[in-house]
Amino acid sequence: MTRVQDLNLVSMWNLDRDACVQPSLSDQFSRVRAGTDAIAAPLSPEDCQVQSMPDASPIKWHMAHTSWFFETFVLEPYAASYRAFDPKFKVLFNSYYNGIGDKQPRAERGLLSRPSLDRIREYRAHVDAAMRGLLRSRAQAAAAHSLISLGLNHEEQHQELMLTDLKHMLSMNPCAPAYRAEAARAHQNGAAENSAPAQSGSAWSSFSGGLVEIGHDAKSTVQFAFDSESPRHQVFLRPYRIAKQLVRNREYLAFIVDGGYSRHDLWLSEGWDRVRDERWCAPMYWREDHRAWTEFTLHGTQALDPDAPVCHVSFFEADAYARWADARLPTEAEWEHAANDSAASTSPDVLAQCFGSRWQWTASAYLGHPGFTAATGAVGEYNGKFMCNQFVLKGSSIATPEGHSRVTYRNFFPPEKRWQFSGIRLAK
Ligand SMILES: [Fe+2]
Repeated sequence: MTRVQDLNLVSMWNLDRDACVQPSLSDQFSRVRAGTDAIAAPLSPEDCQVQSMPDASPIKWHMAHTSWFFETFVLEPYAASYRAFDPKFKVLFNSYYNGIGDKQPRAERGLLSRPSLDRIREYRAHVDAAMRGLLRSRAQAAAAHSLISLGLNHEEQHQELMLTDLKHMLSMNPCAPAYRAEAARAHQNGAAENSAPAQSGSAWSSFSGGLVEIGHDAKSTVQFAFDSESPRHQVFLRPYRIAKQLVRNREYLAFIVDGGYSRHDLWLSEGWDRVRDERWCAPMYWREDHRAWTEFTLHGTQALDPDAPVCHVSFFEADAYARWADARLPTEAEWEHAANDSAASTSPDVLAQCFGSRWQWTASAYLGHPGFTAATGAVGEYNGKFMCNQFVLKGSSIATPEGHSRVTYRNFFPPEKRWQFSGIRLAK
């Protein structure tokens, strides 16, 4: 078992030991764990079993893996009397931590018909009880504080993945079943997929550029941040403009009608190969039926809302659309500087829809910020080893748990992926 070095992690995950005994950690734990169960609640055991593609995991697996994370990185190292629920789970629910040992191949998670969903619920209850015991001990909770916070933020990331994965799974069913029949309020677990933006004034916000700072200050103890968000560092920006709103379906439709998917000159080479090999002709869940466009959503198939921000586009599609629109995608630094400025401003010239709508592709490769180092031990595999062949997405989506993201947050996916709630903000 890899034992994580406390001191490394206190700095790595940007948390202060003085903050370790916040009485809210226990409440936070209960809230996050209940959030996962709430997402699974409308689903049948059969729903929770299916793996609809190699990128997506069964709901059951997400429920177990998020418990495995606490068992592996918190309970085994810090709760002296903890006994593993089932030693076989160490392999079954390891995602990608080579430092921990063997794992079930990602594309074969759907083959795990055993353990049953009931057994996985028992596993969750076992881990919850042990965690509550640990949280009651001031000393143990303080020692493991940074890892507990990491585990909670990790589980929130999986809550969004549960929604994107179950959406894909339901979309593969010819009956196009709804996850939830009625749209609830936005921000509540995949509700209200279509949130029409308010339109007013100029479409662009201008920035003079110069030397700016981005990234999370590791010395800050105000809030949790993943290791990849640090260090804070300087970046030089040329003057730029960035769109105040996200690209809407009606605008993306104009790109389609104008032959966007049949003009090779708009596409990066690898993107054009995807268009042809996978016969892309619209965003992932759009269908054209008798000249009317529909979109599969968590509430079933709906008429395409022309004012909603376009969703489920790959980096390649975002990039091609930007070229067609005589614009480009913002860099990560441009987005972060503009969003930061907007958060501090009372002017109407601010960016809208930074959070809670669509993840926004940037033109920036997902690499370590200057000076980034991953922690030692298995937990250091969390982000650093994925810094290859992926692009940064900023903001958050309608499926992101409230309060999970921030301006320095760095989501990342390979350029061809489109099952996440990803959209487009333009820059010039
Ligand atoms: Fe995970």
